[in-house]
Amino acid sequence: MSTVVLVPAAGRGERLGHGMPKALVPVRGVALLVHAVRGLLNAGRVRHVVVAAPPAEVGATEALLREHGLRAEVVPGGADRTESVRLALRHALAVHPDVRVVLVHDAARAFTPPAVVDAVVAAVEAGAPAVIPVLPMADTVKRVDIDEVVQDTPDRAALRVVQTPQGFAVDTLSRAYALAGDSATDDAGLVEKLGVPVLAIPGHPYAMKITTPFDLAIAEAVLAGEGP
Ligand code: CTP
Ligand code: MG
Repeated sequence: MSTVVLVPAAGRGERLGHGMPKALVPVRGVALLVHAVRGLLNAGRVRHVVVAAPPAEVGATEALLREHGLRAEVVPGGADRTESVRLALRHALAVHPDVRVVLVHDAARAFTPPAVVDAVVAAVEAGAPAVIPVLPMADTVKRVDIDEVVQDTPDRAALRVVQTPQGFAVDTLSRAYALAGDSATDDAGLVEKLGVPVLAIPGHPYAMKITTPFDLAIAEAVLAGEGP
């Protein structure tokens, strides 16, 4: 049974505001993508990694990963995350026809512990067609209308914050992407539309998505405590 991780890393990182693709922004001197791919390859159950890079950065991304001794295949990404995942999936299916489990993991979640990655793969191998790592909600959540007037307060106990890597039986993800429109930000959401059950397992605070300068500061602080 072969496991491939697709890593959408073709975003522009506009909210981070570093003037470069987010995947290339350094944390403690090393690009986020390098941290992300290293974590994936440190997971014992991962065989192949396919990175969707900004089209203009494919060569530089290959060189960067090689320089850090990381084995990954790099393909040009698309205009939105959905397209980047679709392109990486197409490559993975063509080059690794024996793949049984496909994970999708945001490069922006660069410090996800390898144990979370392995737990997602294990749950798919155990028979779940779709698996997502989640955390409980720390804050109360309100639903508001277009005028910011509160409509109701969902029961927090039944809510979860969703992380990546999300794991899928290969046929399930292929079917979901065959039907997907544009700009889905959540792969499991596409699978839900097929009526396929999605299993939630425990995520980890380190799997946070680095979106804003504040998130980057937290990542720097976490790594300062952990060492490289
Ligand atoms: N992504 C991608 N291709 C795109 C857009 C996004 O592969 N065309 C990836 C990003 O590189 C990131 C993940 O999808 O790893 C989640 O997206 P997000 O956090 O929104 O990253 P960016 O799009 O880079 O950030 P921003 O929206 O602030 O520009
Ligand atoms: Mg984005």
